[in-house]
Amino acid sequence: MRPARALINTDALRHNFSRVRSFAPLASVMAVVKANGYGHGLVWTAKNLQDANAFGVASVEDGILLRDAGIQQPICLLEGFFHPDELPSLVQHQLSSVVHHESQLWDLEHAGKIDPIDVWVKVDTGMHRLGFSAETLPAVIKRLKVCMAAGRIRVMSHFPTADNRFDSATPLQARLFDELTQNLNVDRSLANSAGIVNWPSSHFEWVRPGIMLYGATPMIGISAETLDLKPVMTLSSEFIAINQRRKGDAIGYGGDWVCPEDMPVGVVAIGYGDGYPRHAPPGTPVLVNGVRLPLIGRVSMDMIMVDLREFPDAKVGDAVVLWGAGLPVEEIAALTGTISYELLCCVTERVPRIESTVQE
Ligand SMILES: Cc1ncc(COP(=O)(O)O)c(C=O)c1O
Repeated sequence: MRPARALINTDALRHNFSRVRSFAPLASVMAVVKANGYGHGLVWTAKNLQDANAFGVASVEDGILLRDAGIQQPICLLEGFFHPDELPSLVQHQLSSVVHHESQLWDLEHAGKIDPIDVWVKVDTGMHRLGFSAETLPAVIKRLKVCMAAGRIRVMSHFPTADNRFDSATPLQARLFDELTQNLNVDRSLANSAGIVNWPSSHFEWVRPGIMLYGATPMIGISAETLDLKPVMTLSSEFIAINQRRKGDAIGYGGDWVCPEDMPVGVVAIGYGDGYPRHAPPGTPVLVNGVRLPLIGRVSMDMIMVDLREFPDAKVGDAVVLWGAGLPVEEIAALTGTISYELLCCVTERVPRIESTVQE
């Protein structure tokens, strides 16, 4: 069996959930498990978050997978339904839906006689992605109140820049959301992970943590460790070859990394076919027995190469950590020009997720 694997730490997930509760003790928690639980496994994540008050997903299909796995909490489609054909499935599986657009409102108003679907009306308070404008919100709520297909009504909005603790727009956005919704007498939700840890005025009745549950920091310039968040996924593989190379040997595709001296080079069975970023530059660290060693050469589909000059005792079969316990995913994300979210959710299906409680 290929040694590439994602160790998924149940204790860390539960710990991070308890951090959500301590940051936002009064709020109900809608745990965001879209994109296969940010790569950790949709059903696994939900099953290990028994205390979550609800789950947020991005498709009816994910909602059904959770129901089929026995998840009983409310499940919300964060982008709503995509087509009116999906409404019977929402009813059958008791999925609630964001309503962010006139077309969805129209579909609900013309749904005929169906059991009512709980809705989260999305209002745009500054993200300018999804949501009704602030001006149209009262009319939307009024229409939903008389819409036979709409059940319980709640309101949500989303932050674009809450990860920046110096941002002046975020508190203004929270205030605007409060002003728009305070007389509606409905539950409200605004905070993502960054809102939860840094903007208490955004907590309202429901918070919607995603990335912090998985142990990566939601904040620019504040580490996960500082926030006492623990990595849930440790992506690891093993050396499958250790080769002694000569000064001047070119390593891997393109041959653009050239050995500056005679040196040992390790080959690790992981690559972009597993979701390890192809553009990880030479120098990107990997962890071997707690020692950081630099990647060299280009990332291949199934393999990467590692400079072993600092750890010449490495052996075939030694474990190599690509990110996770001891090597924050944020660090690899920064070096590869992306964010932890993308790295985590792009770990491909061929990497087995293996449940573990070991935290280094
Ligand atoms: C509507 C909505 N709420 C909450 C979240 C969770 O955000 P985060 O992972 O930053 O906590 C997301 C994630 O993208 C989202 O789309």
